[in-house]
Amino acid sequence: MNINQLLMAQHREAERLFEKLEEAQPEQRDELATTLAQKLELHMELEEEIVYPAICDLIEDSDSDVAEAKAEHALARQGIAQLLALDGETPGFDGLVAMLKAGVLHHVEEEEEEVLPNLAEAATHEQLEELARLCEERILAAGAEPPSDPDTATREELYEKAKEQDVEGRSGMSKDELAAALERG
Ligand SMILES: [Fe+2]
Ligand SMILES: [Fe+2]
Repeated sequence: MNINQLLMAQHREAERLFEKLEEAQPEQRDELATTLAQKLELHMELEEEIVYPAICDLIEDSDSDVAEAKAEHALARQGIAQLLALDGETPGFDGLVAMLKAGVLHHVEEEEEEVLPNLAEAATHEQLEELARLCEERILAAGAEPPSDPDTATREELYEKAKEQDVEGRSGMSKDELAAALERG
């Protein structure tokens, strides 16, 4: 697994959690909001501590992109703090979720369309894998589970993920088809 695969898997997971949160009953919202907040915080820490410094080292003139990314993380943190302070049954919860989601999706789009492709171009294959390894260590140290590696996961593991994500037609899919369906998110 390389760093871009790892970060993009985390982006897809965050998007799924936003969708769940939007569809959840009011009494389920607090728990989902807490899970989403933890995942986003850990993801942002990985980027700030491991990925963005590597980008600054490897890519000339990347300082302003990284500064913008950090400013967007700060905005996301404000939204997360507001969300956690609000009871899931309070009117306005929906609106706050929509605002936070829009901000996070905007940031994710910039990362996936500019920042990560630039990194992939500037770094060697080994460097991209090493960054992923550092992130995985950090995820494990936080007591969380790193995203599964699509290259080495078994069909059974992929099937379990597909079940979690309600992938249609999963039972008839081969390992490669499951991996492709999961990647599409
Ligand atoms: Fe980010
Ligand atoms: Fe990200």
